[in-house]
Formats: sequence, structure tokens, C-alpha cells
Amino acid sequence: MRIKNILFFDKVESTQLLAKEFIFCKKDLLIVANEQEKGYGRYQRFWYSPIGGLYFSFLLNLEKEEIISPFDIIFHIVKSVTISCEEVFILKEKLQIKWPNDIYYQDRKLCGILAEKFNSSLICGCGINLNNNEFPQEINNAISLKEILKREINSYEKFLLLENILQKINYQEIRKEDLLIFLKERNYLKNKKVKILLSYKKEITGICVDIDEDYSLLLEKGIKIFSGEVEKVYL
Ligand code: BTN
Repeated sequence: MRIKNILFFDKVESTQLLAKEFIFCKKDLLIVANEQEKGYGRYQRFWYSPIGGLYFSFLLNLEKEEIISPFDIIFHIVKSVTISCEEVFILKEKLQIKWPNDIYYQDRKLCGILAEKFNSSLICGCGINLNNNEFPQEINNAISLKEILKREINSYEKFLLLENILQKINYQEIRKEDLLIFLKERNYLKNKKVKILLSYKKEITGICVDIDEDYSLLLEKGIKIFSGEVEKVYL
């Protein structure tokens, strides 16, 4: 994957929404912003995006990526962002992935990734909490790098982080076997009891045993979850 076109903005409604406006170009593109007024996440939930965080969306034209599945690309991005955060900030503790694609530090969310597909385009957006001091009341389990490191993240480090992520995304080969090893190793939900909201308001509770070869979440008794929202983790 090679992304050569990058657009930087100070403030946007949402990098994700902006990326949609470029779909017709059929080009790969990265849109980065310092602040978002209408950032959103999975299930259209509000994504708190104050100035000083890192918010970006990749617009990828899948027509020429026939051999790779969108899932491989999404998890390649998840892995790249995770490892870059650890490398750039020399985190003492490894980050974990809360299926499908939240990045967790201990029991709190550091980064959210949203993937949306439109015909042959994939828009993969990522929000990383950098300098947040506090979060709105309704967001009760978020954490920022500032909180982890107990110091402000400067703009040079922010740039380094973005550059490191881009390097990985662009130059590291996408190998499904490696992605699966990574996801299995970093599975935040492993051996935890979880309640998952499925479509049509159905829900299921069970112990997560693994992430399967097709990226589904594997619960005890061989139950596979292909899509859904982990509503509760029993700690
Ligand atoms: C989630 O946790 O539900 C995913 C959050 C994704 C947020 C990012 S920030 C950059 C991009 N622009 C948006 O409006 N959303 C994504």
C-alpha cells in the first residue's frame, strides 16, 4: 500500500466525512486534522476531537487491491497504529486490541478506528487521544497519551507518530498470518466474559476464547461473532 497524497487541515467537521467527498477521485488519500467538530465513531457515536489530538482518515481505492481483503487492510492499519504508539512513546506496557478495532491501554480506550466501505472505496478513520485532560461525561473509559506519560505531547512527537504510522502502512507488507498472530496476542477480550450486542437488538453473553482465522471473535462453545458491538466486559 502506498499513500502519496496527504491533506492537512486545522479544523474540519470530520476527516471521515471529508474523505467521502474525494471518493470520485479514485485515488488513495490521507486526510489529517488537528481538530474535528463532528467527529464520529462506530454506530454514529460522537468522537470527542478537541484540538491537539490526532485525527485522520485513509481513503483507499480497493479496485487495485483485489488480492487483499478490506479486513486485512483494516487490521494492518490497527496493527500499524498500535505499534507506532508504542515505539514513538516508548510505552512500558503493551497496548491491546479490543475487538474489532479499539486500541486499549490497560482497561481504557486510547484510540478508536472506524472502517466504512463504499463500493470499491474503503475509508478507515483513526482518532488517537493525545493531550486530552478530561473527556465528556458520557465517555467514561477513555485515556490519553498525556495521561499515560504524565506530560504534554508536543507537535513534533505528534508529527513523528503520524510519520511512523505512515511508514508502517506504506512499507510493511500485509501478511494475514502476522496480523492474526498480533491480534491473538493482543486480544484484550481473551478469557473475559463479554456481552455483545448483535444486529436486530439481539445480544449474547459468553467468554471470549480467541480471535479466529477469519477475524471473527470466538466465544466458548465455538460461537463465532462476525460483527457486533462489545457492550460490556465483565472485569
Ligand atoms: C470508534 O471508536 O467508534 C471509532 C472512532 C473513529 C474516530 C476517527 S477520528 C478520525 C476519523 N474522523 C471521524 O469523524 N471519525 C474517525
